[in-house]
Amino acid sequence: MTVFVPPVEKPISSKNVWNSSKNNEMFWIHGWGENYFDINEKGHIIVRPDRNGPTFDLYEMVQSLVQRGIDPPILFRFDGIIKDRIQRLCASFDGAIREFNYQNHYRPAFPIKVNQQKHVVDVIRNAGKDFLLGLEVGSKPELVGVLSIHNTDGALLLCNGYKDAEYIELALLSRKIGRRSIIIVEQFYELNLVLEIASKLGIDAEIGFRMKPSSKGSGIWATSGGDMAKFGLNIHEIIMGVEILKKAGKDHWLKLLHFHIGSQITSIVSIKKALREATRMYTELAKLCPSMSFFDTGGGLGVDYDGTRTSSDSSMNYSMEEYARDIVYAVGSACDEAHIPHPVIVSESGRAIVAHSSVLVTEVIDVAPILGPVGEMGPPPGNHELLGEMLNLYQTVTPKTCHEVLNDAYDLRHNILEQFIQGNISLAERGYAESAFRHLLARIRQLSKELKYVPSDIEKLDEKLLKMYFCNFSVFQSLPDSWAIKQLFPVMPIHRLNEEPKVRATIVDLTCDSDGKIDRFVHPKESAKYIHLHELDKTPYYLGIFLVGAYQETLGGLHNLFGDTNAVHIDMDEAGNWVFKHEIEGNSMSEVLRYVQYDSADLIERLRLSIEKALKEGRLTNEESAQLKKRFKEALEHYTYLVV
Ligand SMILES: Cc1ncc(COP(=O)(O)O)c(C=O)c1O
Repeated sequence: MTVFVPPVEKPISSKNVWNSSKNNEMFWIHGWGENYFDINEKGHIIVRPDRNGPTFDLYEMVQSLVQRGIDPPILFRFDGIIKDRIQRLCASFDGAIREFNYQNHYRPAFPIKVNQQKHVVDVIRNAGKDFLLGLEVGSKPELVGVLSIHNTDGALLLCNGYKDAEYIELALLSRKIGRRSIIIVEQFYELNLVLEIASKLGIDAEIGFRMKPSSKGSGIWATSGGDMAKFGLNIHEIIMGVEILKKAGKDHWLKLLHFHIGSQITSIVSIKKALREATRMYTELAKLCPSMSFFDTGGGLGVDYDGTRTSSDSSMNYSMEEYARDIVYAVGSACDEAHIPHPVIVSESGRAIVAHSSVLVTEVIDVAPILGPVGEMGPPPGNHELLGEMLNLYQTVTPKTCHEVLNDAYDLRHNILEQFIQGNISLAERGYAESAFRHLLARIRQLSKELKYVPSDIEKLDEKLLKMYFCNFSVFQSLPDSWAIKQLFPVMPIHRLNEEPKVRATIVDLTCDSDGKIDRFVHPKESAKYIHLHELDKTPYYLGIFLVGAYQETLGGLHNLFGDTNAVHIDMDEAGNWVFKHEIEGNSMSEVLRYVQYDSADLIERLRLSIEKALKEGRLTNEESAQLKKRFKEALEHYTYLVV
């Protein structure tokens, strides 16, 4: 009897001890973690919200939440990380201001589009109070959302985005209740509208101009800058705008110059280039309108998602401190040269403030090899000669012949499929052939390690031999940028990190969409097509997806009607212990159905009618009808994700 022996995967480490430096090599946590994340002696991920102080055990927090009935997927929001990011941002600018003897202040403004969740905005507002942190809104609904709550005296309320009369009226009227709204004119038509409405209301406005810089950013959002950018005034419009203001006798309303060359600017050179253009524009405008007093650099400060410190799309080749120094120096020296006062420097940094603060924890629900299971193999069922050939290839392949055998194997597999279609090979025989094929590929890949030069066809086998880890989450809901723009997010197990993870895997989500997967992973050198994970045992296995605090919640969609996940805010009490500050239940099925106009009461009534009919026709017992109705009603109120 011939038995296939599945090839043993070579362990990554020959030693038994699996330690934190090996984890770091594998998951690169010290690269992207910025000291907020690390691994403790129990092999659990720990979170250190202020980078130096107390740590929280993420795995223990998950266990505690599960005991309380809050199931994964769970979004953890670490309020302390938000506070630390704001402090670090302000300290970076304050340091640069001292270093270059800059004669004015820095004011951060959080663009709420990056994370509009009320609890998050509240944490940011409170953490930013001492720094007079402002808010930036990019639409009328965003303005309505924060107008009444943004009550830090003197903090800016920057009004960006397309505007209509209602938007402008609200922004102006908010000044009457103490909001320092600055209406940033992005489209030329807005200027006349502001003048008209302000005069009607009898309210003095403060106005900013958003310039369209010729300089582009770098990275995925580079087209937010440059001549073809969607927003902003061109030179001609800015000159005309000043004339219109002067003619109306309102040029003293012009206070701010804004520019934005895109989010996640990956290269500092692009920032320096844009600064040269924008500072020159500022000084020219300030000469025309001495009321100018704010230089707003927009967003763009990056996040090093892959920890490589490079200008790759998911990284940045500069630090927060370098960013601040370059801005302060550029603005200060340009103003000195032009003999005009230093303005307040504003940045609308969103991603850099919130990305690190959220971690999504999901549970693995199943594992499957991409090419199907291998299991124990006996002799071929039946005696079809093609199966014998596949077996022969497996038994005789050597390092020297492995490339040739690979080609033969693909050909043979194709022929077996043809024979199956024609009805000459049974289902059992085809199943055997597929399994034998997978064994053969694995053997070829293993033997190829003895070769000096490994052909790329054979290297690519790694992808075919991976396992898929099915996880309880939706990429479309929780990680839309991973799907839409292939952005990297660090992913790793949050426990069992003192055991070597030996399984090469990709991650797939619950949606019935082949794009619902993660198949690019953070790696010290370049992104990897797989991640190492542990074999499942009897205990739940949890993965963390990190740095998801910026944009993901807002952009997430309801594909397959998977809704918002459960979310918790974690903070520290006086004794340095973690506390769950807020628990926000994820969407129930009735909630997501309501988004798409299904009314729960109507659904229940329709079910009742179907039940009545089935009862009448004797297809259902009274007990079954009660059970169905009960189950259905309960399901409507349950979480949209799997209960594992
Ligand atoms: C006008 C404006 N300000 C600020 C931001 C936030 O950018 P970031 O998250 O890169 O800081 C954006 C986002 O693209 C933006 O369009």
